[in-house]
Amino acid sequence: MGAEATLMGWVHRVRDLGSLIFVDIRDRYGVTQVVARDDDALLAQTKRLRPEYVVKVCGTVERRSDETLNPKIETGEVEIAIREITVLSEARRPPFQIADETPVSEDLRLKYRYLDLRRDRMQRNMQLRHRVLMAARQSLDAQGFLDIETPVLAKSTPEGARDYLVPSRVHPGEFFALPQSPQIFKQILMISGMDRYFQIARCFRDEDLRADRQPEFTQIDMEMSFVTQDVVFTAVERLMQAMFAANDESIETPFPRLPYAEAMDKYGSDKPDLRIEMAIVDVSDVFSESSFRVFRDVVAGGGAIRALVVPGAGKYSRSQVDKLVDEAIELGAQGLVWARRGPGGDVQSSILKAAGAETLGRLLESAGSGDDGLVLVAAGAPHEASALLGKMRLRLAAREGVVDEQRRALTWVVDFPMFEWSETEGRHMSMHHPFTAPRDEDRDRLETDLGSVRAKAYDLVLNGSEIGGGSIRIHEQPLQRRIFELLGISDEDARSRFGFFLEALEYGTPPHGGIALGVDRILALLAGEPSIRDVMAFPKTATAVDLMTGAPSTVSAHQLRELHLDPTPER
Ligand code: AMO
Repeated sequence: MGAEATLMGWVHRVRDLGSLIFVDIRDRYGVTQVVARDDDALLAQTKRLRPEYVVKVCGTVERRSDETLNPKIETGEVEIAIREITVLSEARRPPFQIADETPVSEDLRLKYRYLDLRRDRMQRNMQLRHRVLMAARQSLDAQGFLDIETPVLAKSTPEGARDYLVPSRVHPGEFFALPQSPQIFKQILMISGMDRYFQIARCFRDEDLRADRQPEFTQIDMEMSFVTQDVVFTAVERLMQAMFAANDESIETPFPRLPYAEAMDKYGSDKPDLRIEMAIVDVSDVFSESSFRVFRDVVAGGGAIRALVVPGAGKYSRSQVDKLVDEAIELGAQGLVWARRGPGGDVQSSILKAAGAETLGRLLESAGSGDDGLVLVAAGAPHEASALLGKMRLRLAAREGVVDEQRRALTWVVDFPMFEWSETEGRHMSMHHPFTAPRDEDRDRLETDLGSVRAKAYDLVLNGSEIGGGSIRIHEQPLQRRIFELLGISDEDARSRFGFFLEALEYGTPPHGGIALGVDRILALLAGEPSIRDVMAFPKTATAVDLMTGAPSTVSAHQLRELHLDPTPER
């Protein structure tokens, strides 16, 4: 106490008590109370301060009076008695409060992002982002990974989204593509003998946006040589432990592994939220011989009958149950069957007459409804029936308040199919990307049954969000060529798009594999934020616009002509 101090920062709040004025000064490290008293000239000067002015205060550090002690903040026991105060910069009245976390529309926050970033929430999120990424770098360095930058002016790599293109001025009619990911470069680095690579890489994808998707986003991109899936998993688990530790959280490793087919059957999703206990069960057997023709026919036709028990929902009123059926229809279902035990143990169900109490009793038994569970039943193609119940599972869990927000449920989803059929394209497409290796035991079926081939591909899922994806890659050139063919990429097309890569594969390629983690998604979950925009300093809106700078914007006809792009007359 009594020490001389100089403090610079923003005026956070002013409390004017006449002969005593308290001012909270804010900087990155927090808020400090300063006080003007006794001196009329100083009081007059302090009275003129407005929120967000930038000031310099010189004075002495004193213990606060007992009534003004604030145990909630680090500097809450002291204040600075102002001797001299200088305004370094005045400020216009901000369009929203900086000092209070009052709700503000996101558009306004994004337009005045420099003010939004001053608020406590964003200051905390940016500091968390820094700490987590520093911890990631340290962990990867300790594990022998080399940080290598790859080009942003690149050639298009297919990851399923549209490319952002950059016209070349010196090569008329030619374009660079901004990387959707550094996929090909990192594989080339393995061919180059770098053994373990990582990069905190910016990726660009022109795709429809959602709360967890931005047109430019950040990946922790990794690749390793001479590894199996298990080795990649161990490296990532160590990395994740370090990242969580930077948020003072400890997580258990190894993470559980869930085969894709099981995830789809039990949770109706390839990114299941495993904080929720409810799981979907197959009850086809109950109906295959039953008198309820609709379900019997579905099973006979190769479909499935799936059931989800909602614990405690057996006590729902009829109108609550009817609402659930309406919701399922909104979600695209043709209908939703339900069953439960009434108060006297009798069976109640939307298909009681058609299916009979005996079959429905077996359904309740087989689904494990207990005394108070409501069983929802969907019929159809197996994955479709589960997908519907999977959506209901998420909604109902949220509604019943059974999702523990503090819990971290991490899981690997493994054994993805190699291909998926695209109705719009009329061909098979890569489920991950075309550089992913098939599982050895499924390789023969590449020539006979594409749909059944599983890949050495994996996703990392945290609380129902896909936070990473990767695979063991194809390192044999003929197989890579064959996969391009199977994907309907002509030889000529493959040569012009990937010729350099196919050639590189012929010069001694180590077996290799890797992963990319979605930094923004991980941070949103760590910070407890609903959108990845809240953990990015300068995000774009859902319509891919930067509201602060106004990008994208038109450019001059001169610039367009230089780039050999025809200016349209309106410009
Ligand atoms: P993938 O396309 O699965 O794999 O991307 C990896 C992870 O990046 C995150 N992500 C996104 N985050 C925010 N906005 C987006 N638009 C967006 N798109 C993806 C997700 C996702 O899991 N090259 C491969 C990786 C590899 O095979 O090693 C790739 O990019 O969290």
